[in-house]
Amino acid sequence: MTETREEAKLRPFLEAVAESRARMNPRGSRPDPSALLVALRSGPLEDLYLLSACFANLDLLPAGKGEVPDRILRALTDLSPGATEGARSDSLSRSRMSVDDLSLNELRDAADRSVTAAAAVESGVFRGLHGAEEGLTPSELAARLDADPRAVGILLPPLVRLGLLWQEGDRFALTEESRRTLGDPESPEYAGGGMGLWLHNLRAWTRLPDAVATGRPPEEIQSQASEDEDGRAAIARFMAGMAAAPAERVERTVDLVLERAGEPRTLLDVGGGPGHYARAFAERGLRATVLDRPEVIDFVREEYGLADDERIDTVGADFLENPLPGSFDIALVNNVTHMLSPEQSRVLLRKVRGSLEGDGLIVIGDFVRGRSERADWFALIMLLRTEGGNTYTEADYAAWLEETGFGEMEVVDVEPDRQLVMARTV
Ligand SMILES: C[S@@+](CC[C@H](N)C(=O)[O-])C[C@H]1O[C@@H](n2cnc3c(N)ncnc32)[C@H](O)[C@@H]1O
Repeated sequence: MTETREEAKLRPFLEAVAESRARMNPRGSRPDPSALLVALRSGPLEDLYLLSACFANLDLLPAGKGEVPDRILRALTDLSPGATEGARSDSLSRSRMSVDDLSLNELRDAADRSVTAAAAVESGVFRGLHGAEEGLTPSELAARLDADPRAVGILLPPLVRLGLLWQEGDRFALTEESRRTLGDPESPEYAGGGMGLWLHNLRAWTRLPDAVATGRPPEEIQSQASEDEDGRAAIARFMAGMAAAPAERVERTVDLVLERAGEPRTLLDVGGGPGHYARAFAERGLRATVLDRPEVIDFVREEYGLADDERIDTVGADFLENPLPGSFDIALVNNVTHMLSPEQSRVLLRKVRGSLEGDGLIVIGDFVRGRSERADWFALIMLLRTEGGNTYTEADYAAWLEETGFGEMEVVDVEPDRQLVMARTV
């Protein structure tokens, strides 16, 4: 088939569409880009929708007729002037809004999509489909989950649209990617453990107007938490969320710290939760001590095997109220300061200073405001969940560290939106 110049420009686009369609249904055959081109010639409008649906599926943007994402329209306009005019006017007349307004729709749809994905994990959909090689019908899955068949039948198609499942006839199955990340708890990429905490936080998020009015966690959220569940369920969810941190992030943290720590022998993991950071340091030969609230320590000793790990000690204590043990070469304070007010952070850092050896290193892991985009978002969760928590700037950390006996502060990125603030005892 001879391509026009404009069609040649479209070819990379069509290759990407073919890829995306193959990913949506890994069992189906990979569509031939040339066949897509023929389809595009015969019905450009319909196929723009197809293209937009494929790209929307890749990026979780709005899909479907009447909502061709703006950036895809723009990309197509650049590639093939004129080809999109019909689609644009059609899209506008159907949705009666300007292209600029689509971003509001995208925000709404992004919220719908993320809640649906988290809720599906919580409902057990992905774990339920794991192992069913030929897929399951909604009724079969509902029976496995002890759930309502009609509800499961309504929940599954949106998950196909999100690219998290594939569908053949009336059967639904995991994609290869969703098996690894959400279906198989034994997979190293499994991320399903953190979704319960995500969904829990989303519930709190709907009460943000109350928190904005009072500056405090909404009472409804607090009373709901204490009525609905015992402390153990809340600890289990919180620890599962913490333990869902990808191994790569933990390893990179350990690398960045050890590059700067000389030859450390001991580490105190302050508010260490499930102990996966302590364990990674223990793997490198350090003796690690995990300190957390007594009820959390009881839980993680049992559920995360810390009681059986000879390289790891545990201490149950309140790090604001009780003395901290000493004397350590490194103190790790990871994902903790955002839960505290500035005053509480200073109290904690002063105590940590007391628990370090003469040439000790403090490592604070958090989202640093001004450097991490996520810091702005994460502070909202702290507004909803804690009395005084927030995310803090480099200048905040520098002032607290200087005041509590540390110097030579350095900030490094573990990931673009996660930082380590490190400083030495003076
Ligand atoms: C967000 S988690 C971080 C866990 C772990 N450091 C990590 O990065 O995965 C914060 C931890 O601090 C603990 N924590 C909060 N306030 C505390 C306090 N006053 N005393 C002791 N531990 C506390 C919590 O129980 C929780 O395990």
